[in-house]
Parts: sequence; C-alpha cells; structure tokens
Amino acid sequence: MPRITKPTLGVGFIGAGDISVLHASAVRKCPGTKLVGLWNRNQERANQRAAEFGCRNYASPAELVNDPAIDAIFVLTNLETHFEYTKLALAAGKHVLVEKPVGISVAEIDEMRKLADSRGLICMPGHNYVYEASMTRTHDLVASGDLGTIVSAYVMYNIHHPEEVASRYPGVVRQILTHHSYILLYLVGQPVELCAMKATLHYKTYTAEDIAMVQMRLQNGALAHFCASFAADDHAADPWTVMVKVIGTAGSTRYSYRDHVEIKPGQVHSQTYTAYQGSVINEVRHFLIDCLRMDQQPLSTMSDAITAQKLIEAAEVSIRDGIVVKL
Ligand SMILES: NC(=O)c1ccc[n+]([C@@H]2O[C@H](COP(=O)([O-])OP(=O)(O)OC[C@H]3O[C@@H](n4cnc5c(N)ncnc54)[C@H](O)[C@@H]3O)[C@@H](O)[C@H]2O)c1
Repeated sequence: MPRITKPTLGVGFIGAGDISVLHASAVRKCPGTKLVGLWNRNQERANQRAAEFGCRNYASPAELVNDPAIDAIFVLTNLETHFEYTKLALAAGKHVLVEKPVGISVAEIDEMRKLADSRGLICMPGHNYVYEASMTRTHDLVASGDLGTIVSAYVMYNIHHPEEVASRYPGVVRQILTHHSYILLYLVGQPVELCAMKATLHYKTYTAEDIAMVQMRLQNGALAHFCASFAADDHAADPWTVMVKVIGTAGSTRYSYRDHVEIKPGQVHSQTYTAYQGSVINEVRHFLIDCLRMDQQPLSTMSDAITAQKLIEAAEVSIRDGIVVKL
C-alpha cells in the first residue's frame, strides 16, 4: 500500500546551507514531488535560497512543519541541531530525511528512531553513498559470494577543504568517517575491532583534525581501512579523491568520484564530482518515491546510523587512549 497517494508530495527544508542546493536539485528531478518551502536561521540566506529554489520562506520551523502541504521534512542543519528539528518534524506527523551524522550520540539517534517507529513514520538517515548503482552492485556481489572470501575493504577520501569551510563542521572523524562507516556496513558488514589515528596539518587556528585513518578487522577475519582527509586533494594519477574498494579471492570492485569530473567548482570542492550530486539524487528519489509512495523500508536505516555512530565513538576512544577497541 503506498503511504502517500496525493498527486504532489510536499517537501520542506529545515536548514538552507550548502547541502540544501544538492537536495533542492534532487527534489526538482523527482517526479510528483515539490519543494514547498524552507526555514533557515539566517534570514538573508533564507530569502536568497527561497528565491533560488522558487519556494516559500517560513517564519519559523514550527510554521513549516505544521503546514499540511508538507509531507516530508529534510533536516539539513548542523549536526548539533539534528535532534531538535527531527523531533519537531516527527511530532508534527511528518516523515524525515536527516543529514549525516544523524546525531551527536547513540542515545540521540535511538530516540529519533523510537519516535519515528511509535508514530509509524519514516525517519531516514542521509546515507547518500549507498544509493549509487556501483555500491549496490558491490553489495550484491559480496552477498552472493561471487567475490569469494572477502580479503580487504578500503574507503578513501582526500578532498581539500579550506579552513573557513571545515570549521563549520566537526573534524573529519565525525564529518567524513560517518560516511565510511555506513558504506562499510552496507558492503561487507560490521568490524569486530579497530584502531584509529588523527592529525591536524593545514589549519591555522581551527583545532579539529583534518586527517584521520582507521584500521579494522571484520567478522570473517578480513581487514579494512578508512582514510578521511580535508588536508589536501590527491592530484596523482588514478587519485583517491573518493575511492571504495572491496577485494575478494574471486574478484574485486571499485567506486571512484573520478569516474565523472566536471571542470568547475562543486560547492566547496575544487572540481565538480558528478557522483556526489548523483548520490543525493538517488537518495532523495529512494526516500520520496520508494519509501513514502511505495511503502518500502529505507536501504540504510536509523539502526545502521546507530551502528555507524558506535564505530565513530570507538575510533574516538582509540585515538584518545591509543588502543585497539573491541566492538
Ligand atoms: N551527505 C553529504 O555528503 C553531506 C555533505 C555536506 C554536508 N552534509 C551534512 O549536511 C548538514 C549541513 O551541512 P552544510 O554543508 O549545508 O553546512 P552549512 O554550514 O552550509 O549549513 C549549515 C546550516 O545549519 C544552520 N545552522 C547552524 N547552526 C544552527 C543552529 N544553532 N540552529 C539552527 N540552524 C543552524 C545554518 O543556518 C545552515 O542552514 C550537516 O549535517 C552536514 O554534515 C552532508
């Protein structure tokens, strides 16, 4: 049974920063849906984005979530306010897509999950990478056993972020390794132990880390590696801009941002990696059409967001204490 049958499914944005541009473009490409309006804390930005997106600018988050024309809310603010706005939207009976990292703690994410479940609403984490066809193919190859015994998995990210941009985010452990964690879970499952290191190399005053690496042992004994860096772009041949590899005894797979590159700045990136926008288009389509219209469960759930958060917190403990952490 489709959940929402009305001809136009209304969407509202809480937060109109950089990522809202990708989400607005994704909603425009999604048939039978419309961005009705947004709320943003900074009114100058709110007016600018509302004009750009051709939608309403609401006076408050409460006014937005209570508009009957809106069926689904995208929470696109900074990490620290996801909990507050997700709860507000769910309490108003609206389905929610909440950007990653979903919350600042496992307890926050669990409360959002429980509230959504108790109200029969979908609350989907913004785990955009898993909606790429190449990721799904890798997932299916691993699950069917066609790659043989999995030996290793790698998720690499090397995209320079100026200090002004990076300082709007937590360090790369939370900001970027969250992506790596849900990707790993989707492709090859949960690790059983990990150790991590971080460093700050290119900021003048911001003290958060701009590079972090994690080593993991998976349930079948295979090893995995994460790298997340805002410190420098990788300019060498076959660069590890965003690179995901799974290697098995019977085959291997690769996903790379460098498969499609447009020579123009892409948001805060020095070039436009088409797959980034593409993953958000696929994610939004999955949420609005597959989940809200067709009643499917999200491919990546709030339970996955909780597991990803546990990996992040384990990496933080490993970094702080200089130890291998069992999961
Ligand atoms: N999925 C991805 O690939 C991806 C990429 C970039 C950002 N993100 C996530 O999207 C979210 C927004 O990131 P962004 O790049 O748009 O950042 P941004 O700095 O451009 O925008 C942040 C937004 O949060 C709002 N905000 C900040 N503090 C607030 C507060 N106390 N109360 C209310 N609103 C507040 C700002 O007004 C702005 O609308 C973050 O959670 C980030 O992790 C996801």
